[in-house]
Amino acid sequence: MDTSIERIRSHNNSLVNGVSYVELTAYSQESYGNAVQFYRVFLNLNELDTDQRKETVMCNDLAYIRIKYKEDQEVERQVNERLSKLIEITTKNDWRAVSSSSLVYFVDDIGEVKETLKRISLPHQAYPTELTPAQIYTLDPLGNVIGFTGNKLAIATEMPLVIPTIEDEDDSEFSSKEGSFTDLTTLMRTTSAYPSLPTRIANRSDRRIAVLTSGSDAPGMNSVIRAVVRSTIFKGCRSFVIREGFEGLVQGGACIQEYTWEDVGGWNSQSGTNIGTSRSKLFLTRAGRLIAAENLIKNSIDSIVVCGGDGSLAGGHIFKQEWHSLVAELLNTGVISISEYHRFKHLTICGISASIDNDIPITDSSIGAYSALDRVCKAVDYIQVTADSTARAYVIEIMGRHCGWLTVMAGIATAADYVIIPELPRENGCWEEHLCKIVKRNRKNGRRNTIVLLCEGALTSDLIPITSQDVSRVLTDRLKLDTRTTVLGHVQRGGAPVAYDRLSGTLQGVEAVETILGSTPDTPPTLIAVKENKIFRTDLRNAVKATLEINDAFQRKSFDRILTSRQAGFQEYFKNFLAINSADQDKKMTKSDNIKNIAIINIGAPAGGMNSAVYSMANYCMWKGHRPIAIYNGWSGLARHESIRTLKWSDIIGWQSRGGSEIGTNRETPDEADIGMIAYYFQKYNIDGLIIVGGFEGFVSLRQLENARELFPAFRIPMVLIPATLSNNVPGTEYSLGNDTALNSLTEFCDNIGISSSATQGRAYVVEVQGGNSGHLATFASIAIGARATYVPEDGISLDQLDNDIETISSSFEYVGSADRSGKVILVSKNASKSITIENLADIFTVESGGTFEAHPVIPGHLQQGGSPSAIDRTRATRLAIRAVDFIINKFEFFTNNKDVNYNATKDMIESAVVLGVKGEDIIFTSIRQLYLFETNIEKRMPKVIHWEGIRTLSDHLAGRKRVNVELE
Ligand code: F6P
Repeated sequence: MDTSIERIRSHNNSLVNGVSYVELTAYSQESYGNAVQFYRVFLNLNELDTDQRKETVMCNDLAYIRIKYKEDQEVERQVNERLSKLIEITTKNDWRAVSSSSLVYFVDDIGEVKETLKRISLPHQAYPTELTPAQIYTLDPLGNVIGFTGNKLAIATEMPLVIPTIEDEDDSEFSSKEGSFTDLTTLMRTTSAYPSLPTRIANRSDRRIAVLTSGSDAPGMNSVIRAVVRSTIFKGCRSFVIREGFEGLVQGGACIQEYTWEDVGGWNSQSGTNIGTSRSKLFLTRAGRLIAAENLIKNSIDSIVVCGGDGSLAGGHIFKQEWHSLVAELLNTGVISISEYHRFKHLTICGISASIDNDIPITDSSIGAYSALDRVCKAVDYIQVTADSTARAYVIEIMGRHCGWLTVMAGIATAADYVIIPELPRENGCWEEHLCKIVKRNRKNGRRNTIVLLCEGALTSDLIPITSQDVSRVLTDRLKLDTRTTVLGHVQRGGAPVAYDRLSGTLQGVEAVETILGSTPDTPPTLIAVKENKIFRTDLRNAVKATLEINDAFQRKSFDRILTSRQAGFQEYFKNFLAINSADQDKKMTKSDNIKNIAIINIGAPAGGMNSAVYSMANYCMWKGHRPIAIYNGWSGLARHESIRTLKWSDIIGWQSRGGSEIGTNRETPDEADIGMIAYYFQKYNIDGLIIVGGFEGFVSLRQLENARELFPAFRIPMVLIPATLSNNVPGTEYSLGNDTALNSLTEFCDNIGISSSATQGRAYVVEVQGGNSGHLATFASIAIGARATYVPEDGISLDQLDNDIETISSSFEYVGSADRSGKVILVSKNASKSITIENLADIFTVESGGTFEAHPVIPGHLQQGGSPSAIDRTRATRLAIRAVDFIINKFEFFTNNKDVNYNATKDMIESAVVLGVKGEDIIFTSIRQLYLFETNIEKRMPKVIHWEGIRTLSDHLAGRKRVNVELE
């Protein structure tokens, strides 16, 4: 007897939960003997009953195995053949993927199992790695896959009750604001007459459009300037910048400068504002504004785009309001001529809100806000590490003046214990108690660090500022925590803009020029704003008014009005923070005799935000008095290993900000994994609702489950898919979790490669982009980085287009010494062509450019999946997870009352298996049946209608690339 086997025997090993009785059959005397020997010795089972020739029953405390013998040479031959095949693929394929049956055995020492298997030369597979296995599999003499795990957490055990007692304070939905939406996709059509480079524009109009940045700088302002300058030139007008904001307008002279296409080359990746900004005292006076008006007219500028925060937009509004009187005064005092008066008696003003504070109530996101949020989240992530190591408390002060948006969003994204914001002033003496209660509870539940985020403008209800020292003192004195404070300061405004701000800045800049060119003298000043995924135009005066009202509410201490005056999105996020971070997970489900089991599963490739969705779903479920259950390692994890368990708060601490998937994910669909087994486990664990977080395979999974409802009543439950894939190709949504994280990874990668290109003479890079058959990632990244050309599966790669691009890019290398020092990067979706690889493409560029430049292929590969999820993916994951849980809860009554309903016939049943998506300005649920049957190109794994069609054209326009209209390959 091998001594190692003896050692394993002496431990308290057991079969994992659920599989308590197993019956096996051997088809020859020899394999029967081997099997009995294998299970008795290797798995430490005692023989209970033996009929030496026909049947052996073995067991320990938890497992009961019956091995039967039934002579059948043919089946025995098949078993041996199967065994040989499994042995043959040991180093190539995962046995679990080809074997429908496997037993998993829990052992104390998995390392010892590995050593023993090696020594007695039994084949094995180890996961995740041979070096540090968490699971090991081998084959029994009957061809069954036998697993060993040292990790109890991966597999279901019991489902403890978790009953919160805090009631949801307010369930009412916040209403959305109205706006007049303009669809950019219809605005930006390619015209075949478009010249490949703007220097060739022949017929210039006389219109002159200027752009200025004002107030505090914000990352993404340069994208606005670039887009305004290039769109203006593209439209055949002349483009100007006003340096140093409104101050430059008053100073005039060199502060007002005409800009060319190349002047803004490479600006998307640069932070701050390259044309300067200021808070002008002179412009606050009428006399200052009079000089500003004169300077505009003397430069023949008739329209301005004002990019800045609330003060800047208010400045633009006053300027417009006064314009007629200013021009009249200039005429009366002889400063301008009568013809100048007639030509410039109308001023067109268009505002774009840019401020890291995100304090303009009309727009969801001011330019720069998400970049600042990214900085804050990274800083808090870093601090959490040291706080966790030392078990300290940290008070982190965040910018935002009197707006708590940054603080609340960072609170969600980093799962902070507590946020203190100006919108919710608490009575002096009251916030301290509340803070201590939450921190104490979280510590008791297993959290080692304490993170309190404090908005710099936080106040008590007596309007007394709450400082980081005040908070620190409370934590130190009352809770005896070792506490440190960190003031993040202007770090928050620095660094390269995140992809979102570059895209948003670009789209808003383009829209501002469209607005100006479409304006009449009667058009009121316009603000370009964002609602969810949509750019829209609104009256600038409303935005200014709404901001003033909030300031006024502060002065008058009308606290109930302050939060409700903020954007609907902010209000919802604040509610989300409370729901996931302030819920008392500790006082568990008491009185509830109606606890429901809501399961969550990750499907497909890892996507940033998957963990955040699980974290938020679990917290919210607990708060609502229901039980969150995780299915581990996808459908195969459930069907083959019964990997399912209740999530407890202590299990998920820290998940909100982690990349990858803590519960594991893979691409198998229910049909592939064994839908019957899945139904069985749904029934066994009484699953009452399901949330799938995943990409196209998640979409297909939902359809398969819905389709199987007739056969399996276990699937007659509410089911929601939260799309999560960097490809962003799930029908029913314009946004998938993970897409923003990938966009940022790719953008950062291309920024760096662009630096190399611009530093090396005659060098371009051809970068391969992931995304399956969807060119979304490549197209949006191309705007974010200012790529010279982009090839996507939707277009293919045509020789005509290639020819044209080679000429355009070659000629851009000839602008040596121009202001445009940006790198030359070309993006190619992996599936853009069946025949041309990126190596081919790089060679073609190099050879056909006739020595003008060399192109090098680069493959960032899975780096694009990103590490830690972006702040956008984290916060949206939370929002979508909460919406999904609410959806499921709202359906419970229907399912309770309609247990035996003919599911095919009812609208309610059909609409209970849905995709949760963002469409334009709405967040909507669409039935999987509708999407799958009518809106999906299944073969291509794509929606039939590409929602971002117009963006491809826009990306080409801003890169100065002519699109040649050709058929797909
Ligand atoms: O408005 C943007 C902002 O960064 C605020 O968050 C902050 O209070 C303020 O500007 C800081 O202003 P300054 O850069 O002038 O110090």
